[in-house]
Amino acid sequence: MAKKVAILTGGGDCPGLNAVIRAATLKLTKAGYEMLGVRYGWRGLLENDYMPLDVMSTADILNRGGTILRTSRTNPIKQEGGVELLADNLRQNDIWATIAVGGDDTLGVANKLQGEFALNMVGVPKTIDNDLSGTDYTFGFNTAVQIATECIDRLNTTAESHDRAIVVEIMGRHTGWITAMAGIAGSADVIMLPEFDISVAEVCDILKRSRAAGKNFNIVAVSEGAKLVTKEGEEQMVTLSEEVDAFGNVKLGGVANLLAQEIERRTGYETRATVLGHIQRGGTPTAYDRVLATRYGVKAAQMVESEDFGQMAALQGDAIVAVPLELAVGERKLVPREFWDLAQTFFA
Ligand code: F6P
Repeated sequence: MAKKVAILTGGGDCPGLNAVIRAATLKLTKAGYEMLGVRYGWRGLLENDYMPLDVMSTADILNRGGTILRTSRTNPIKQEGGVELLADNLRQNDIWATIAVGGDDTLGVANKLQGEFALNMVGVPKTIDNDLSGTDYTFGFNTAVQIATECIDRLNTTAESHDRAIVVEIMGRHTGWITAMAGIAGSADVIMLPEFDISVAEVCDILKRSRAAGKNFNIVAVSEGAKLVTKEGEEQMVTLSEEVDAFGNVKLGGVANLLAQEIERRTGYETRATVLGHIQRGGTPTAYDRVLATRYGVKAAQMVESEDFGQMAALQGDAIVAVPLELAVGERKLVPREFWDLAQTFFA
């Protein structure tokens, strides 16, 4: 009988998920395995919600954003008896190995299931935030940077026409990867990242200097997780609500609006705020992400074939390698100072 391999996508969706599903399915079915898609991430394993995957069901998905398997932020570890139920379901359905495609939350669960319950897990690093350790890049990040850069390009022309400052809020949770790259690529006047503090007063001084130097408009790229810092060093992280999800994540959002009001009040420049939001996660993956996600999917399949469990496919330099899952979920990968210095070179 063919060995059964499940694949699931958890956490926020991201362009390239379908490319991973396709690649792993094609590689493993060709090698004689049976592929089972788990719907809605870990929730699907708790509820036995599956769909068969084969050549036909994955034929037309490589370039499609989102995930044909759907996703959720269900955390089985937080549920009473959740992990035991999940382990029972895997056994009863003869699922021999599971490929978990996700960020630190989803892979954290996979790591626990492997380490504490000896269930055969393989990980694939997904997130637009690019905040996973153990890999140089996650898939989906390149697409998000491309989208954010195109949006900044558009904001540049409207800001210029009206002599305005525009504050653009960019996703990334507690790291500023997308903001740093899109901000540099989009020639933002100021970039604000969670990793490096810059006070509101300093931001306004930079804008004033840029106007004094002859520029008639400004773009401020701010990470949703960047703190608003006063001159005295007081910090404020802006959230949409007090609520946290099953993994303890706060809902970030709103920093651009507050900052825009403050910039207008302090400088007198007409200022607007734009929140890019989920536009950064939607739509078709870039060619780079399609190829990276495909390489990750094939690597995950190879790890299943060689029974290399408890590992995650990772990009190191130009090579796709296997790294221990615990490395990926141990520490958040922050934007290095090098990029902050690069961005600051262009602050007036
Ligand atoms: O982790 C990906 C991400 O898009 C973050 O950048 C953002 O803070 C969060 O997910 C938004 O989550 P949701 O889709 O639940 O609003």
